[in-house]
Amino acid sequence: MCGIIGYIGKSEAPANLLKGLKKLEYRGYDSAGMAVFDNGRLAVAKTSGKVSALAEKVRAEWPGERFARPPVGIAHTRWATHGSPTSLNAHPHLDASGGIALVHNGIIENYRALRARLEAKGHGFLSETDTEILARLIGEFYSGDIFDAVCGALHQVEGTFGIAVLCAQEPDRIIVARRGSPIVIGVGVDGECVAASDASVLVEHTQRVIYLDDNDAAIVRADGVEIRDLDNVPVTRAVVGLDMAPSAAEKGRFAHFMHKEIHEQPEALANAIRGRLDFTRATAVLSGMGTSPRELSELERVVMVGCGTSLHAGMVGEYAFEDLADIHAEVQQAAEFRYRNPILDRRAFVVAISQSGETADTLAAVREAQQKGAFVMSLCNVVGSTIARETGRGVYLHAGPEISVASTKAFTSQVVVLLMMALKLGRGRRLSREDGLALARAIDGVPALVSRVLEADPAIAAVAERFVEGEHAFYIGRGLMHPVALEGALKLKEISYIHAEGYHAAELKHGPIALLAPGVPVVAVACDVPGKDKTLGNIEECRARGARILGVVTEGDADTIACMDSVLTVPPAHPLVATIPAVVALQLFAYHVARLRGCPIDQPRNLAKSVTVE
Ligand code: AGP
Ligand code: GLU
Repeated sequence: MCGIIGYIGKSEAPANLLKGLKKLEYRGYDSAGMAVFDNGRLAVAKTSGKVSALAEKVRAEWPGERFARPPVGIAHTRWATHGSPTSLNAHPHLDASGGIALVHNGIIENYRALRARLEAKGHGFLSETDTEILARLIGEFYSGDIFDAVCGALHQVEGTFGIAVLCAQEPDRIIVARRGSPIVIGVGVDGECVAASDASVLVEHTQRVIYLDDNDAAIVRADGVEIRDLDNVPVTRAVVGLDMAPSAAEKGRFAHFMHKEIHEQPEALANAIRGRLDFTRATAVLSGMGTSPRELSELERVVMVGCGTSLHAGMVGEYAFEDLADIHAEVQQAAEFRYRNPILDRRAFVVAISQSGETADTLAAVREAQQKGAFVMSLCNVVGSTIARETGRGVYLHAGPEISVASTKAFTSQVVVLLMMALKLGRGRRLSREDGLALARAIDGVPALVSRVLEADPAIAAVAERFVEGEHAFYIGRGLMHPVALEGALKLKEISYIHAEGYHAAELKHGPIALLAPGVPVVAVACDVPGKDKTLGNIEECRARGARILGVVTEGDADTIACMDSVLTVPPAHPLVATIPAVVALQLFAYHVARLRGCPIDQPRNLAKSVTVE
């Protein structure tokens, strides 16, 4: 939900800000802007559209020395919440004096009350945003110390923020602060520091970073960082190492990050599994869970919380925990969970599933579960993310940065880690060593299974050519293949804009089949696992109404292949593991359909990678 960057160093702030915005653009990309110092005054450039539009504007309008000279600046790529994506609503926003500039990620929930108070003081507003109100409020508090002014204004704010502020009177510093939206600071070498929404920007400047906690604020200078809370009390935050290579956030030989990340899955999955399977005791070793066998044995139910793709991974987790650990398991949409007053106590094991570790609804669900005394842990990909830090225990995916808005390698890594969690829980209960070993071996074989699906990429691209036209698609599956159908539909809808809906195969005849007309594609996930035969029956119901059937089918299952009009074949696998090759085939299918439709793929309209607002 928007990307923020602040750069302070020796020179060339605009070039560094543009480079950083490009890496942050996946977080939100409907408008962009920057503010730098130039000869003691703030120079601001803003535009609707993507970062490339801002780069063109800056290079055209700012003469060479203004582009090369400034040593400090802030910049923003926006995902609008208040006010349409126009250049006027783009950030930075200025205070009334024009000497203070602010970029903001989040929502000022009491913006109406604050705006009314400022209007009563004579303020006129240039934009429709909530952010401009905060900029003007900081200006009202300013009396010679920009840090104090920022803290004074933030004490008036209800809502979420990750901000960076420049003040023309104090050109040797950037003020940053956060509550609910991430800010990480790269402690550079030889006189530069960078603050940003996530670490992908920092990796080319430094491997030493500081993650701010909620209600932290910091004075960022070229030679160092000073962190305090909003009451101006110094706080200490650890400088930690980044485990990210600069190339991780590059597309390499691929046309899109999504295609790259689909193909990274064998490596990502191997990283998720590495060192976590114990074949001697036929269990999983997940030290980050920080739990003893006794603590695990006392848990009476598993509640997973997540959104979107992470919610779908939790649906696979439901089956795994119940089948393997003989424990009641459920997954809840995080926003629903946090507002429904969930029944929880110390015997509930709450697992927050979040690739970014910053999703606002999932973070709120964590806090709700902690407040009710549940045993809470997280399953995140971004090291040091807010959810990972606030749960204080859990399992990292180690999938590497996932840049494409459509989640792929995170989903399959989430499923693999959930299977290992269920294996660990199960082996502390009734799961036999023999069954545990069988699953451990199946999990260990997942990267090779995915590699075999990836080898079929060209064949899947050829199948995709038959589905480029049309505006509707049904995805159906049963049992473990139901979440696969939902995830496959989400991939297609969010990158190709085809109205694709996933249904439980048995659910079609209870209403949705009314939408079936001749030629409408039905993607049937009919892998050779329990429930397949019933799905074949549902396929016939669809075919009787003229549907075109695309089957996800296990290699060699000739009878099932014969039921399909088109086929994506996947290698045979243990039922709990079979979800992963099936979903990879559907990821590739969605990617190629979207590519053939000429869609932007990595940055779909209206979306952002990390939804850090409600
Ligand atoms: C998945 O393709 C979507 N981009 C979206 O549904 C995403 O999974 C959801 O916003 C949750 O994100 P998280 O895993 O970072 O919490
Ligand atoms: N609420 C702010 C706006 O609408 C910030 C949105 C964002 O996080 O990009 O401009």
